[in-house]
This record gives sequence, structure tokens and C-alpha cells, in this order.
Amino acid sequence: MANALKIAVFASGTGSNFQALASAIAEGRLDACIELLVCDKPSALVVERARAAGVDTYLFHPREYARREDYEQAIAAELQRRGVELIVLAGYMRIITDVLVQPYYGRMINIHPALLPAFPGVNGIRQALEYGVKLTGATVHFVDGGMDTGPIIAQRAVEVLDGETEASLAAKIHAIEHQLLPAAVQLYAQGRVRLEGRHVAILQERG
Ligand code: GRF
Repeated sequence: MANALKIAVFASGTGSNFQALASAIAEGRLDACIELLVCDKPSALVVERARAAGVDTYLFHPREYARREDYEQAIAAELQRRGVELIVLAGYMRIITDVLVQPYYGRMINIHPALLPAFPGVNGIRQALEYGVKLTGATVHFVDGGMDTGPIIAQRAVEVLDGETEASLAAKIHAIEHQLLPAAVQLYAQGRVRLEGRHVAILQERG
């Protein structure tokens, strides 16, 4: 697609959200192109998924760099070289520094498996289950310098039923993530996501 939004997906693990984006593109539900997968774990399943989808992978080994900022500089150069317009963090298990946050503010989003601002950080699904909430869900938000604190673009809820296990709740949350993330990226691709300070306005479809 000639003017498809160029995105880079950052992921460290299974990559089911990477797959959801790739499938949405293949099925014509998302006007984007995954230019690059950025991954810090060579053995991650997401690397296989990228290969199968014909997406290039930028693999790096954090231990080979003295500081986070150093590998992020290298990543930033690669993103710039490829003309990446939006970064999508989808299970990327590393802290992001100002090297990427500053230049990509408003152009970098994350998916989190809870209804933020509840249960930020790691293990959002387990945290919600242990707390005993009756509703949890998934959130897509812009990335700022904090831990899952940026302006919220989209959220969807799921019920926590009696007898729910971490595995059953994770399955329900992943299922909604796989709809929510491609839908949010499509809104962005259509130019319908407007960042207004702490708030995000979703503009009506044109035409
Ligand atoms: C998702 O639950 C996402 O919300 C969180 O990390 C998980 C990644 O899962 N940030 P997958 O690798 O996309 O399957």
C-alpha cells in the first residue's frame, strides 16, 4: 500500500499482538505496513512470526551495550533510516528512555493488559486477579516517561468471573487486545487520534 502508515513493533515474547497487527494488515483492516520488528530476545516466538510475515527484525543484545541509551540510539537511527512513523510497543519488556520517548512522543503507543491507571507495570493480569476486581481489561496509550502513565487512546473491559484463573483471564484479555490494538492503530493511521495534553480525542471518520 503506497501511503500506508509505517510502523515498527517492539516485542520481547510471544508476539500474539504482533500477529494481530500483521493479520489485520493482510486482511485489509489496517492501513499500515510493519517496517520492522525490534526485539531484544533472539529466541522469542515473535521473531518467527516476523519471519513468516516477511517483516525484517532488528535484533539486539542489551548486554552488549554499556547503557540503555546506547542501544536506543542505534534503534533510533534504524527507525529514522526506514522512515518509521509510529512505534507500537507490544510486550516489549524493557524500560524506554528519553532517547526514544522524546523524539517519538505522540508517535509511540503501548498496549497494557489492565484498565489503567489500575495495575501498571509487570503482571497486570495477576495483579488484578489478586486484588479481586470484578472488571479488568486492556488499554492502549501513548508512551511518556512513566510506567504505563501516558494519555489513554482506547480501553476495553472484561469481567472477572468467579473461579477465574490467571490463565483463563489472560486468554480473555489477549482476545480483546487482538481487536483493540489493530483498531487503535487504524484510528491513528486515519489521522483520527488527537493528543490534547493529558487527553486523547478520537475524531469522527471523514466523508
Ligand atoms: C500483552 O498482554 C500486552 O498487553 C503486554 O504484553 C503482552 C504481550 O503479549 N504488554 P504478546 O507477546 O503480544 O502475545
